[in-house]
Amino acid sequence: MTRVKAVITDYVEQDLKWEEEQFKALGVDFAYDQLKLGSPEQILNLAKDADIVIVNMAKMNAEVIAGLRRCKLMIRHGVGYDNVDVAAVTARNIAFSYVPDYCVEEVAEQAVMLIFACQRKLLLQNRLLHDSAAKGAWVFDPIYPVYRLSGKTLGIVGFGRIGAAVQRMMQGFRMRLLVCDPYLTDERKKEYGIETLPLDHVLKESDVVTIHTPLNRETHHLIDEPQLQLMKRSAILVNTARGGVVNLQALDKALREGWIAHAGIDVYEKEPPDADLPLLHNERAICTPHLSWLSEEAGWSIREKIVEDVRRYVRGQGPRYQVNPEVKIRFH
Ligand SMILES: NC(=O)c1ccc[n+]([C@@H]2O[C@H](COP(=O)([O-])OP(=O)(O)OC[C@H]3O[C@@H](n4cnc5c(N)ncnc54)[C@H](O)[C@@H]3O)[C@@H](O)[C@H]2O)c1
Repeated sequence: MTRVKAVITDYVEQDLKWEEEQFKALGVDFAYDQLKLGSPEQILNLAKDADIVIVNMAKMNAEVIAGLRRCKLMIRHGVGYDNVDVAAVTARNIAFSYVPDYCVEEVAEQAVMLIFACQRKLLLQNRLLHDSAAKGAWVFDPIYPVYRLSGKTLGIVGFGRIGAAVQRMMQGFRMRLLVCDPYLTDERKKEYGIETLPLDHVLKESDVVTIHTPLNRETHHLIDEPQLQLMKRSAILVNTARGGVVNLQALDKALREGWIAHAGIDVYEKEPPDADLPLLHNERAICTPHLSWLSEEAGWSIREKIVEDVRRYVRGQGPRYQVNPEVKIRFH
């Protein structure tokens, strides 16, 4: 019997020596490259005869998937999988798994950080410190108004793993909580003691809105001009989910025209965003470079979880989280 072959098409780790050791111990042949922006031809050169294809950001479109002649399991290194044509993967009878649970705490922490950075105007405070030091006297005028969070309303849109973690972290701040998640099960509502509300209601009533939905056809530009116009003039919008969920052009306009007060944004429709994206130059926006997932702990957690999926495959078990459970996984 031929050995199982696994490939990694592209990666964020500094090197893959640890994976090499793990796969060697499992008796799995292993090859890898750094094809983040690779052409279909380059990706297929590496992966066409692999049983398991592990992908970070490389584009797995229908053309690439059609050329993966031996692939039985594709694993996305991460939570979102908008770079993978799941319908094409499923049509080719390839099981597709992902790692939805490696950075829940980190993304929630980043959302909370952005909420506070906006609310307490962190970047402006830092600038005022430098201005004051240069002047030899406190310069405070540009900071007004600053509001307290306690007693205000927090709107969470998307109450899955990360949305619920944000709620847990924010509990000490005595905010009223409103949740929009049309797909939340009764069981989960009961578990968290929450009711869900329509998006418009949450947008109108919240002082802080934080987005934690997946990106799909339904959530593309979920927050656009009409939704931003519903929000309070003093409101803060935070998006650490996926770029396409918020229309950033509309958001820039909303901030410049004062429909809302501040925004904290980690994700962009085009990544990295163009240097002249207006939002990056908007003083009311605090923008971070899609790093919500980052921590040493999360970095090791995802590596271990991917190797765990490969180990399971070698032992004849399906992956931990299969996106297309309708595909019955074929083993080697
Ligand atoms: N910025 C980063 O580094 C980073 C890292 C990890 C995850 N993410 C993103 O965070 C988001 C949330 O991840 P998660 O693990 O909590 O996902 P999850 O699947 O656990 O939760 C998503 C929730 O959104 C809800 N939802 C779906 N459509 C909705 C809609 N139209 N309106 C309101 N709610 C809706 C779902 O019912 C679900 O409860 C995803 O977009 C993911 O890609 C970003």
